[in-house]
Amino acid sequence: MAEELIQERHDAVLLLRLNRPEALNALNIPLRRALAAAISAAADDPDVRAIVVSGGSKIFAAGGDIKEFADHDAPQIMALELQRIWAPIAACPRPIIAAVEGLALGGGAELAMHCDIILAAEDAQFAFPEVRLGILPGAGGTQRLPRAVGKFRAMRYLLTGDRIPASLAAEMGLVSELTPSGQAEAAALALAQKIARMPPLAVRQIKEVVLQGADCALPAALVLERNAHNILFSTEDRKEGVDAFIEKRKPLYRGL
Ligand code: CAA
Repeated sequence: MAEELIQERHDAVLLLRLNRPEALNALNIPLRRALAAAISAAADDPDVRAIVVSGGSKIFAAGGDIKEFADHDAPQIMALELQRIWAPIAACPRPIIAAVEGLALGGGAELAMHCDIILAAEDAQFAFPEVRLGILPGAGGTQRLPRAVGKFRAMRYLLTGDRIPASLAAEMGLVSELTPSGQAEAAALALAQKIARMPPLAVRQIKEVVLQGADCALPAALVLERNAHNILFSTEDRKEGVDAFIEKRKPLYRGL
């Protein structure tokens, strides 16, 4: 059987490509576990500086695997403790870029929202169809979507399951940038390579402060930012960045 999660290294970038074409990349438990394990391993590997999550050229993901949970009742769903599979993705210290072609539905859209940047092909579509199955988005969708686009637009789509075209998603703030159709993965890789060339400690601190700060009151968030800013002043990469600027050469960052 083909690997359901393809892993490719592109220099310092790890590309993770969902590969269940027969089920439109529906996220079954083995695929979710493989994704969580790959992201955990990447977080332990200092040579990986950015991650791209892609569904390939046709579809990002058609959601959670409906057939897998068709017969489940509440205790069985609770016993799966799905939040433990999502946690390594949410906690990953490396930047993660989602490359969305085609549809990102339900758990697929939630996977994209676990990432830090979402690039989407101009003909891609997002939707949260869980309501049509009598459930709700259970991997952060009811919380991350309104935080990304505001309550009133989030309600409009969470309560109907209607599709959100990529252009509207970009306008709403759910998509960072649109790409030509078929170019999302290549564009995400290029962007990830660019981020991978930045000083790793600064990248890590920016991600941490943005994410943690969003959950704090502004004064506490600003303290987080100030402390991170001050700490970065004692890194070698800060010195390298400043020296390279003054000496008019390219900096070589080492994550120190
Ligand atoms: N889970 C399991 N299998 C799925 C699936 C899913 N989410 N989405 C598609 N598939 C399977 C289909 O069953 C079909 O398999 P068979 O050939 O064995 O029947 C195959 O993928 C192709 O699908 P379609 O024939 O339906 O393809 P289509 O082009 O006609 O339609 C689609 C594509 C519009 C995406 C349609 O498949 C669809 O609506 N899928 C379900 C979308 C959905 O409701 N997602 C939310 C799931 S719930 C969730 O995400 C929350 C959570 O994590 C618990």
